[in-house]
Amino acid sequence: MRFTPDFIERVRDASNIVDLFSEFTELKRSGGRLMGLCPFPGHNEKTPSFSVSEEKQVYHCFGCKRSGQIYTALQELKGFNFPEAVEYLANKAGIPIPAEAKSNHESTAAKSRREQLLKVNGVTRDRYHSALLKLPADHPARAYAKKRGLTEDIIELFSLGYAPAQKDALAREMQRLKAPLNLAEHLGLVKPDRNGNGHYDMFRDRLMFPVISHKGDCVGFGGRALSDAQQPKYLNSAESDVFQKGQIFYGLNETAKYIRSENFAVVVEGYMDFLALFAAGIQNVVATLGTAMTESHAKLLKRYSPNVVVLYDGDDAGVNGAERSLPILLGQNLLAKAVFLPDELDPDEFIKERGADALSALLRSANDLFSLVLQRRLAYFRGTASEKVTLLNDLTPLLESVSDPRLKELYIAEIAQKIGVEPNWIGKHLGALATTPPQKSATLARSQVPVTPQEAADVQSMGPRINLNGVPRAELFLLNLSLADRETFEKVMASEAVHELSHPGVQELFLKANTFYRQMPNEFDKLSAYLMTIAEPVQSLALHLGEPLSSMAGEVRVQFLEDCIRQIRTKYLQFKSRELAASLTAAPVDEEQKKKLEQIMNMQKSKHHLRRDREL
Ligand code: CTP
Ligand code: MN
Repeated sequence: MRFTPDFIERVRDASNIVDLFSEFTELKRSGGRLMGLCPFPGHNEKTPSFSVSEEKQVYHCFGCKRSGQIYTALQELKGFNFPEAVEYLANKAGIPIPAEAKSNHESTAAKSRREQLLKVNGVTRDRYHSALLKLPADHPARAYAKKRGLTEDIIELFSLGYAPAQKDALAREMQRLKAPLNLAEHLGLVKPDRNGNGHYDMFRDRLMFPVISHKGDCVGFGGRALSDAQQPKYLNSAESDVFQKGQIFYGLNETAKYIRSENFAVVVEGYMDFLALFAAGIQNVVATLGTAMTESHAKLLKRYSPNVVVLYDGDDAGVNGAERSLPILLGQNLLAKAVFLPDELDPDEFIKERGADALSALLRSANDLFSLVLQRRLAYFRGTASEKVTLLNDLTPLLESVSDPRLKELYIAEIAQKIGVEPNWIGKHLGALATTPPQKSATLARSQVPVTPQEAADVQSMGPRINLNGVPRAELFLLNLSLADRETFEKVMASEAVHELSHPGVQELFLKANTFYRQMPNEFDKLSAYLMTIAEPVQSLALHLGEPLSSMAGEVRVQFLEDCIRQIRTKYLQFKSRELAASLTAAPVDEEQKKKLEQIMNMQKSKHHLRRDREL
């Protein structure tokens, strides 16, 4: 996806940042702004320090200092990337996405089929969910949910549902709604009856877990049997055009924000473990859907944090699974740790037996998955030469997968120390083993991995942003003061200082601001949010929202502004006169030289005046 700046503005115009934040926190009017408890994960507060300006459509937290506009808010709160945030708001506002912005990976026909499939899944999710809510408390499904610790809050948040025991409850419902049954069939929700008597349901008498993509679409389902008598224990939707188990994590749509704020992700193996952790307050978690970890999974995780803790069952299957995930995680430059639970408990059972705090402690003290794998390989190791060679052969593919050379070196040192050889010896033979053929095939394999439309969209955001790093203080404050109100903006734009800025980012930003303002002089309030979208870091543009600028009295502010202007002018004159002086050549003194000298003198005089003004 690639949107034009006009489109981005149009969508923002049609959205309201107050509505978005109201989903996450209660906002109350206080002075000229709305205040509430900070909605961002990682900042838990008891007294409101989060402010939103409805007029300017920007936010600022006086506590955690986060600030930005509606797109950054969506990125932080919902884990969207930029194009996804634009698309999400456009859809919400009913603004059609321009054809040229749509990724060319998918034809329009495929896209509308996809949309229809998602709609069928969405209807099904709502159906199952309300079916569960309607059940009496003593119904086995309700009782089972209760027994597994699934509270009303969890049922609501994850839209858990119940697939009725009836043979064709969903199929009939689809018919009633005139939903295309062939799509429901493709999604693995219904199947045609062998005798040609309509369709029957695939999920019957199960507790249902809708699988939601990070964009909020229902892409598939998992259903758990209510008793051991019913097999299989878990049934998942068939792989379909919208559901590939290897490309999705259960729960990530809800937990991305927690993974960001905790700066690590816990990966578990299934729905129940996920919900058990989440309910116990460990919310930076995702679950695979009963399949091995894939490269797509690792890439997805990388969007939120470089740190991953794998938390699988402590049995052989779990440990093997964790071990297989290691090269995949390392290959994406992720730092992989792992926890194996004692006594063959799974995470859900562990929490029930020992509590969430015990699990948190284990997660925080997790060891590198690599070290655990190595330990396991060394269980029966006695130290013979042939064992050393075998072990190294075994570990070579793993070491080869480590993208970060520093990590690779440390892992080599660890092996060397454990088996009593020189690190160089390992490095040397690793190099020898990794001669061209395996490397070549590795890169080939990588380039053949199909790029999903999602990944393509990730790469094309809105292009490079104007960089505001290293802006001198006076220029930074000039910019922020000018964003505070229209009057100051006009004053700044009329001053010489805007032509005398030293930082290219600020120069460019003032140009853009001026164009924006001239085109829409009555839309001054929208300027902040606009600039926050095209420049980074946004904090540089949020100073006018925070202390001390926002509370500065009028006359102090005027004085401060004049100070900034003076400083900028002084620096500029200094720079210019030095430049001129450097261009002066020795004799003969011609007309041009004389002119330059005169200019320098004048500049010195102006500088002098500026200083005198200040002293007055
Ligand atoms: N799974 C599956 N099909 C099965 C068994 C398991 O798809 N027949 C997947 C499910 O996603 C499940 C995960 O593998 O959540 C882990 O399976 P398992 O450890 O057997 O189940 P638990 O998560 O312990 O489930 P429960 O506690 O409900 O028994
Ligand atoms: Mn379990």
